[in-house]
Amino acid sequence: MFNFKKKNKIVDFDYQNIPNHIAIIMDGNGRWAQERHLPRIAGHKQGMNVVKKITQAASDLGVKVLTLYAFSTENWKRPEKEVNYLMDLPERFFNTFVPDLVKNNVKVNVMGYVDQLPKQTQTAINNAINDTKDCTGMVLNFALNYGSQDEIVTAVKSIAEKVSNNELSIDSISKEIVADNLMTADLGEYANPDLLIRTSGEERLSNFLLWQLAYSEFVFDDTKWPDYTEDNLKKCILTFQSRHRRFGGLTNK
Ligand code: FPP
Repeated sequence: MFNFKKKNKIVDFDYQNIPNHIAIIMDGNGRWAQERHLPRIAGHKQGMNVVKKITQAASDLGVKVLTLYAFSTENWKRPEKEVNYLMDLPERFFNTFVPDLVKNNVKVNVMGYVDQLPKQTQTAINNAINDTKDCTGMVLNFALNYGSQDEIVTAVKSIAEKVSNNELSIDSISKEIVADNLMTADLGEYANPDLLIRTSGEERLSNFLLWQLAYSEFVFDDTKWPDYTEDNLKKCILTFQSRHRRFGGLTNK
């Protein structure tokens, strides 16, 4: 039984109350490496191995969607060497992990401005999506070259275009129409995360899923991503389980 002490009370992990959609801002790779006098990319390499472990753990727990913030539209500002390494990571990850994903019935999805990524990275992504397209278990959703403000601008443009083509009236624009034009639309009923986790002690959103996180529970873990384990994930879920979600109303849901 997995549990921990909260205000001197033992709280048990509830395997029946697992968030359907968990989104993670995987932070702290660079600091983890620097503490060890290693180049920053060593932190990303270790971070990739942690992605494998956490994917397996989330899938085993019955999570429906695991969204991982792997590269933001702002990350291009980093030194060229680091950007190049981060661009290689999807290929390294999928080359070594797709058989395990298929074995675990995990389907790969990628959201972001994928067409701006190097061709080789695009090929690796498309192959992984294709190889896992028949999987019906957890969706492993990578945010790659993703930025939520740009995502919203793209959605607004697309809606405006439909209005100007008379395919849509201004009065019919609704929250559902906006959501349908966001990059999470394909996730259907699981488009909005139930739980957002950010590692490494930082507490900000960094342009991640600004619309979709409106009613999510936020849990911040001090552990840097390369040290994050299945037990850390369970602790974050346990914190989620102790929260009372009211969605603006008065009763729990
Ligand atoms: C943030 O840490 C992390 C990133 C910008 C990259 C995340 C990438 C991975 C975890 C590798 C896995 C990716 C794939 C595609 C499998 P940071 O570098 O900002 O850390 P710092 O705040 O300590 O500098």
